[in-house]
Amino acid sequence: MPDSKKTYVLGIESSCDDTSAAVFCNDKVLSNIVATQDVHKKYGGVVPELASRAHQQHIVPVVDQALKAAGVTKDMLSAIAFTRGPGLMGSLLVGSSFAKSLSLGLDIPLIEVNHMQAHLLVHFIAETHPIPPKFPFLGVTISGGHTQIVRVKSYFDMEVLGETLDDAIGEAFDKCGKMFKLPYPAGSEIDRISKHGDPNTFKFAKPRVKGLDFSFSGLKTSVLYFLQKQVKEDPAFIENNIEDLCASFQFRVVDILISKLEKAVKETGIHQVAIGGGVSANSGIREALVKKQTTDNWSVFIPKFEFCTDNAAMIGIVGYLKYQNNEFANLSSASKARYTI
Ligand code: KG4
Ligand code: ZN
Repeated sequence: MPDSKKTYVLGIESSCDDTSAAVFCNDKVLSNIVATQDVHKKYGGVVPELASRAHQQHIVPVVDQALKAAGVTKDMLSAIAFTRGPGLMGSLLVGSSFAKSLSLGLDIPLIEVNHMQAHLLVHFIAETHPIPPKFPFLGVTISGGHTQIVRVKSYFDMEVLGETLDDAIGEAFDKCGKMFKLPYPAGSEIDRISKHGDPNTFKFAKPRVKGLDFSFSGLKTSVLYFLQKQVKEDPAFIENNIEDLCASFQFRVVDILISKLEKAVKETGIHQVAIGGGVSANSGIREALVKKQTTDNWSVFIPKFEFCTDNAAMIGIVGYLKYQNNEFANLSSASKARYTI
C-alpha cells in the first residue's frame, strides 16, 4: 500500500539517444535505468529516425525494470514526469506519449520537465551533496547539445548569462574525436586517453569571444588544419601522437571553460558554481573546478557520474519539486525541440 506521506514519482527521459526511467520516493532515487542506443555508433552521430524507433523498443522494458528495481508498483505512483524538450522531436514524442498514456491509465498527474533545467537540478537529489547549492548560484550546462552559463535564481527561475554561438562543448569533443579517429561519442575516450599524454605538446587556438558567450568552431578548425598539415608529412601522425593530441585538446577546452567561469564569477559576485550535462563527467573539468575551491574560494558542485549524461533521475527530481508546487501539465502538452531554460 502506498504510504500517504511519501510521494512516488516516475521520471522518463527520451530527448536524444538514451531511453531512461527512474523512480523517486520524495527526493531519493530508488532506481535509475538507462538504455543507451549503440545503433548510432557506426554512423558517427545520432540518427534521429533510428533514435525514435529504438526509444519505442526500449521504453516499456526500461520503465518495467525501473519499477521492479525500486520495489514500487504502478498503483503506488503519485505522478509521472517526462522531458518536454529540448531534444529530437521524434525521440521526445515517444517519452511524452508514453507518459501521457500511463498518467491517463493510472489517473495520476502528469509533469513536464525542461531537460536543461533538469541537468542543473540534479544537485537537489538527496544523495548528491550533504548541502545543496543555495540560490542564486551559477549553473553550467555542458552537454552534446548545449553550453550555457546560467544564473539560477530559484528552482524554476533561470537566466542565461552566456552560451555558445556555434558548436556545443560536447560537439567539439565528438567532432575532434572523429578527426582523431575515435568512436562516437568521443568525449569519454578523449578524457581517458588524455591521462597518458602531455597537454603542453600542441597549442590549439583559444577563441576570443565577447562577454560570457562561447565559441568552439574555431578550435575545431584549428585542430582540422593542424592535422591536415601533419598527416601530409606523416600519414601515421594521429596514431603516433594520439595521447598528446587528446591531452592538448582537452587542456584547451578546460582552459576556455574555466576562463569564462572566472569572468562570470567576477561579474556576478556569485561564487557557487554547479555543473551539469554529459561533459561534466570530464576529469579535466572536474579537477580544474576542485582546484578553484582552494585557489579562488569557489563552492563547486559536481554531480555523481550517473547524473551527468542523460538519465531519468534528473527528470524525476524535477517531477518531485514540481509535485510539491502542484505544477501539473495536461494531455495537450506539446513536445518542444527548442525550449529555453
Ligand atoms: O548530456 P548528454 O548525455 O546529452 C546531451 O544532452 O547532449 O551529453 C553527451 C555529451 C557527448 O558529447 C559526450 O561526448 C560528452 O557528453 N561526454 C564527455 C564525457 N562523457 C560524456 N565529454 C568529455 N569528457 C567526458 N568524460
Ligand atoms: Zn542532456
